[in-house]
Amino acid sequence: MTVERGTWRSKLGFILAASGSAIGLGNIVFFSANAYKFGAGAFYVPYFVALFVIGLPIMILELGLGRFTRRSLPESLRMIDGPRGEFAGWFGILNATIITMYYITILGWAVGMLVGSFSSLWQPSAVPAFGLDAGVLNNSMSYFFNMISEYNTIAFVALVWALNMVVVFWGTRSIEAVVKIFVPLMWVFMIVLILRGVTLPGGMQGVFLLFTPNFSVMSDPEVWQGAFSQMFFTLSLGFGIMTTYASYLPKDSDDVGNASSICFMNCSFEFIAGLAIFSLLFAFAIAPKASTLSMMFFVVPEGIAAFPFAVKLFGILFFVLLIMAGLTSSVSLVEALIAAVLDKFPHAGRKRVVALVAAIGMTGSIAFAWPMVIDKGLASDGTLGLSLLDMFDHWVFQYGLMICGLLECVLVGWVYDVDKVLAHINETSSIKLGGKFKVLIRYIVPAIIIFVIGWNLITQELMQGLYGTSFELSGANWLPWLVFAGWLGFALGGAFLLTRLTDTNSEGAA
Ligand code: PFF
Repeated sequence: MTVERGTWRSKLGFILAASGSAIGLGNIVFFSANAYKFGAGAFYVPYFVALFVIGLPIMILELGLGRFTRRSLPESLRMIDGPRGEFAGWFGILNATIITMYYITILGWAVGMLVGSFSSLWQPSAVPAFGLDAGVLNNSMSYFFNMISEYNTIAFVALVWALNMVVVFWGTRSIEAVVKIFVPLMWVFMIVLILRGVTLPGGMQGVFLLFTPNFSVMSDPEVWQGAFSQMFFTLSLGFGIMTTYASYLPKDSDDVGNASSICFMNCSFEFIAGLAIFSLLFAFAIAPKASTLSMMFFVVPEGIAAFPFAVKLFGILFFVLLIMAGLTSSVSLVEALIAAVLDKFPHAGRKRVVALVAAIGMTGSIAFAWPMVIDKGLASDGTLGLSLLDMFDHWVFQYGLMICGLLECVLVGWVYDVDKVLAHINETSSIKLGGKFKVLIRYIVPAIIIFVIGWNLITQELMQGLYGTSFELSGANWLPWLVFAGWLGFALGGAFLLTRLTDTNSEGAA
């Protein structure tokens, strides 16, 4: 059965959608948190190495796979290596599904903070969360923890799911319409934040710090590990998101040109976001903490609360920016899952698949938003939902992403004929790739990924114990093990089952 697949109306629509996927929460806060943690200016060196050695080659590879096979990840890898390839593809898609679930929970909380911006968030009177001493928590921290420990916050998460459903409902048509408005607007909002940041007294000092390298950190493998993981996450690589979006492109599209444009847009946004965040934090001598959530919900808001005027306005601007950037990323995750299911079960129909994906996804997002307080002293994450989110993020982000990238390189570089893939990419690309690309895909990228996975395993799981076992969990000490088993069961078990199911539409094989 031939599937009615979408197509982008214009090249611009595709570039905006793909860069909208790449530009997300990772760019606005995670980059600055990492840059601060890893020696400020010196972070640019591993960052650029990661961009050219890992980011750009895998982006080209994922775009090439999608454009050429015109299928989402599992089907396109199936064309390369049969059921083994399909299994790898589903493993990627199911890891992406877990990210989708908690990414949308985080966006739901951002909506909650936006709503709070219109009421009491910016008034220095928030009731300290969990009865903790007001000196321990700043105002936005208290607001945040009070909010996530209330059941009605789940409504914000449901709202973000509803928005995602609307945006993906008509496929490329509706996605394109939304990114055409949101992506340019994100740039405008970010520029406004930069102008505000650098004109604050002392703001420029933060910018200088961002450019002052501390090269002593370069010999620390953790800095390199940080840069490589950041590159995967920020460019939305590893999960076949770009493969799905490229599968809606005309067959003669330029992979290398498209990959370069997406990487350029993403990294320049990240770079200017660094200017905004560093300037506004350093104007108030606030140190960025190395976690996306703390940056989003307490550190940057603390800086904004100290603005001399228009606190509410800038607070609203910041949360709207986060929501727009997050939504254009989450729809790419949701669409990748929908496309993968539709490619496998073409007769199911888009509407039914959208409803199914939303039902499963929303259930997961609600679990991650579950407000039950299990850690009143806030020694770790406070609520059950946030603890689950933290643990699942650890497995998917530190391992899932990397394993998927490794599988893609091994399948294309070793199992399939890398020369054939190269020839397909070169056929339509303006810049021709040579032997260096082959060396990267076959040797260098896999070696780096194996190093990062090994490093994480040794320094975290072996030296510190399974992730989460040191958390305050009110006696639920089995939870980290359950999460670990849950991740493996969902991603590996699910991939196995989905691959075994027949009804595969493998028409149009390469
Ligand atoms: N690139 C997005 C960000 O920087 O926030 C997040 C993301 C989207 C990660 C899609 C992975 C993904 F597959």
